Amino acid sequence: MVASRGFYRVNLRHGVNEVGTGQRHTLGIIFMTLSKRLSADNGRVTTDLFEDIHTSEPAQQTLAPGAVLLRGFAREAGAELLARLELVLAAAPLRHLVTPGGHTMSVAMSNCGPLGWVSSRSGYRYEALDPLSGQPWPPMPESWRALARRAATQAGFDKFAPDACLINQYLPGSKLSLHQDKDENDFSAPIVSVSLGLPAVFLFGTPLRNGRPQRYRLQHGDVVVWGGPARLAFHGVAPLADGNHALLGQRRINLTFRCAG
Ligand code: SIN
Ligand code: FE2
Repeated sequence: MVASRGFYRVNLRHGVNEVGTGQRHTLGIIFMTLSKRLSADNGRVTTDLFEDIHTSEPAQQTLAPGAVLLRGFAREAGAELLARLELVLAAAPLRHLVTPGGHTMSVAMSNCGPLGWVSSRSGYRYEALDPLSGQPWPPMPESWRALARRAATQAGFDKFAPDACLINQYLPGSKLSLHQDKDENDFSAPIVSVSLGLPAVFLFGTPLRNGRPQRYRLQHGDVVVWGGPARLAFHGVAPLADGNHALLGQRRINLTFRCAG
């Protein structure tokens, strides 16, 4: 690091990492954020040199048999994934769906690929046409499909060929209640879930509704894959905390790839 002017600031924060049942609890992990503040000609600029270095957390963590968290797996591809997102959402805008019970979801959703997940007063289902436009959902970008396949392979599920990608947008306060992904025809294929933007607390339980879910912090570029004995695990997202992400501002985007048809 070279700085001809300005000064460095070192922030030490204490954290607690979230661990599954039977794992050792580690308290007091120190996260270090080293920030460089410069007085630039056009005003003060704050640059995070090292963002979110979690030295205590493994790159790959088993959440349950069949469920794996791949930390940072999509981080490098993040900007490219987001560039495609704009095009997909221009063709199929985000919308707040209504549940069969009449509740409007706080998460805004859209889809790409041959099939898209929708909810209405008449139920949850996959549709080949976007009900808003009556047109097919936009194609799934090749880079998205390839990333999902690589993540599935890394988690032990070969030849993953998703035909549906649900796009979820969370703003501060948005949440997703505990649920199972069970509207797909093929439970032998895993679910691949890519997190972008603001961090979120992911709740991941068991296939039994009364199993107590564990909590995991998901950050930009993290990917969770669940299949096999975990395919029908209950999962959800706690209300999103406010924040500002370099690429997505006050948003979290989640891409969930499935074999639906
Ligand atoms: C989902 O269950 O569809 C989304 C999960 C997430 O946003 O991480
Ligand atoms: Fe889900």
